[in-house]
Amino acid sequence: MKKLLTFFFIFISTILLSQKYTGLALTPPMGWNSWNKFACNINETTIKEIADAMVTSGMKDAGYEYIVIDDCWQIDRDSLGNIIIDPDRFPSGMKELADYIHSKGIKFGIYSDAGTKTCQGRPGNRGYEFQDARTYATWKVDYLKYDWCNHGKQNPEASYSIMRDALAKAGRPIVFSICEWGTNKPWIWAKDIGHLWRTSEDILNCWDCTTNWGGMGWPLILDKQVGLEKYSGPGHWNDPDMLEVGNSGLTFIESKAHFSLWCMLAAPLMAGNDLRNMTEETREILTNKDVIAIDQDILGIQGFKIIDEGDFEIWEKPLINGDIAICLFNRGNKTIVKEINWEKLNISENFKIRNIWLKKNIGKTKNNFKTEIVAHSVVLLRLSMEEL
Ligand code: GLA
Repeated sequence: MKKLLTFFFIFISTILLSQKYTGLALTPPMGWNSWNKFACNINETTIKEIADAMVTSGMKDAGYEYIVIDDCWQIDRDSLGNIIIDPDRFPSGMKELADYIHSKGIKFGIYSDAGTKTCQGRPGNRGYEFQDARTYATWKVDYLKYDWCNHGKQNPEASYSIMRDALAKAGRPIVFSICEWGTNKPWIWAKDIGHLWRTSEDILNCWDCTTNWGGMGWPLILDKQVGLEKYSGPGHWNDPDMLEVGNSGLTFIESKAHFSLWCMLAAPLMAGNDLRNMTEETREILTNKDVIAIDQDILGIQGFKIIDEGDFEIWEKPLINGDIAICLFNRGNKTIVKEINWEKLNISENFKIRNIWLKKNIGKTKNNFKTEIVAHSVVLLRLSMEEL
């Protein structure tokens, strides 16, 4: 009987432990991450100023919730294996920084790696998962981005599961962001491990540039999302990487298109620019409530491509109350004129149409809709039976 009870106890605790925190990231996480703008050039003063700016710029009110410190905050381990924070860059330590960020009503995120070292050669978590998870919990971390550099022959599913279990054991609800770049198709195995997973290599601050290590501009990342829509939903999101809006490699029009399509994809919205000195144009993009509402729609359905004519694409995203978001995207280098026949898109009800960026109601779907679309831009529409 005693043996049976012990077996039962182990069985139940294994099941309980092998679960990610549920009830988190029910809509795509929104926040800010240090990497795209600052790379390793981070310190606690900058992060505190970003936290201040997140509030004063209106980003927090628009729904941005997390501040995530990416690579380069850690330098070593002590003789007991505890992670050592860079004392020059973060002299007050992470707990104090977390307290500061929390005092602003913002949540606090951190970065590490499943391998022996991070991508910038800092200590990774391999072999220290449970110890590090406990440390993060004492710092009051709310979000962990977990990278995949220096993983040697590690199995990705097993490695990410260990960290999931370590976070569960640490007993603090922490959003677990899997950053495995889509190499081993995490959309197939990561649903019960993390709350989001990267589907591509790193985004670059440009329209369509590439690097030899796989970095690319956002339209090329967009292409990699086709077909992944069925894997995404509340609590488990495809992550096409953080935003480059406001980082100067994109024009205003390209930035609007980038943001619109990330919202169509129900992508996590992690701003990657310097919030302390955003232009008004950048702020208008990042805080547009009607565009964000498409991303954060409670149904959590990832948008999908319904028309592909090369330079011209149409994306559709079903929304709450039977509404539909439609994004007309001109990838080409010339302005085009398009006439949309809604029945041909299988939209037979007579919806009201609102142009989201122009903030204008523009007719009904019983009529064809003719529009000009400037090069590299989108026309973003919300169809609704109600007046918007
Ligand atoms: C990888 C990730 C990036 C960033 C860097 C940090 O390249 O994909 O998002 O975290 O590492 O070194």
